[in-house]
Amino acid sequence: MKTKIILDVDTGIDDALAITFALGRKDAELIGVTTCFGNVTFETASRNSLNLLDLLGRSDVPVYAGAKGPGDESEWQVREHLYRIHGNNGIGNVELPVSKRKVEEKKAWQFMAEACRKYRDELILICVGPLTNLAKAIELDREAVGLCKKIVIMGGALTVKGNVTPYAEANIYNDVKAAQKVIDSGLDLYFVGLDVTLQTIITGNDIMRWKQLDNEKAGKLYEAASYYYSNEFEVVGGAMHDPLAVEAALDPEIITEWFPVNLMVEQEGVTKGRMIGDKDLLNEPRKRIHYGLKVNGERFVKDFEETVLNVIS
Ligand code: RIB
Ligand code: CA
Repeated sequence: MKTKIILDVDTGIDDALAITFALGRKDAELIGVTTCFGNVTFETASRNSLNLLDLLGRSDVPVYAGAKGPGDESEWQVREHLYRIHGNNGIGNVELPVSKRKVEEKKAWQFMAEACRKYRDELILICVGPLTNLAKAIELDREAVGLCKKIVIMGGALTVKGNVTPYAEANIYNDVKAAQKVIDSGLDLYFVGLDVTLQTIITGNDIMRWKQLDNEKAGKLYEAASYYYSNEFEVVGGAMHDPLAVEAALDPEIITEWFPVNLMVEQEGVTKGRMIGDKDLLNEPRKRIHYGLKVNGERFVKDFEETVLNVIS
């Protein structure tokens, strides 16, 4: 049986690639996309997700809009440097055909909680944006969220420098309160942070076969991916942060070391957003966080390229 998944995104180029990758997984059924502020505003994340799903012929996948800013309390100002990474429209300035669809009426967190109650251990939640929607789903119905098979989060930088500040990774930094609420829920959490995503970098060579396809889907995806890998780290390539979280959810062995640990999130000061061992829980034998430290990057990049190739062929 296919595992049902919900992808919580701030679409974003690597989010768009994660959606595409998820659609190509034979072992998964994407039952919904939920959106959040982050790389872009939540409106742009919703629009990009709808446009992409329709382009890929998957207008059957519903999109639910979520938080507009940290705690869903204030409007989000996209940080200047993000335009360089994701382009002015979040997908590398690539114009996707405009979907006629709208987001669903239900809010992202309602959908998440209801789906967890309905599908229980048939469902995995994969969160690859700030954790606001997940925190709100837990607030709404902690019991329901606890019924799902697994929660996988792209976030954190434990053994490497952060990407927003030297201490913090973007998804955690963008809503530190939400991240701490999610941790305080006592649920088991699987974190795929920069420690491993920076080991899954793609360059033009890796996706040459996408370029050779002669159709609109492939052209648009290739163009967006090229913008990302030529801009995120200038020359080195683009880290597949969000696609790796999808892979780790469905095939956890891609992460060759999951570190069991109880972490907390620093809430203010220069270290705001840093995830660090929670000293109050140091002697607690039960470790709730499973933090990815090592990855089979080569295998991932191959699987990813091939899976996306099939979707866009
Ligand atoms: O730090 C990387 C993460 O922040 C990715 O999920 C990227 O899409 C942004 O949301
Ligand atoms: Ca993201």
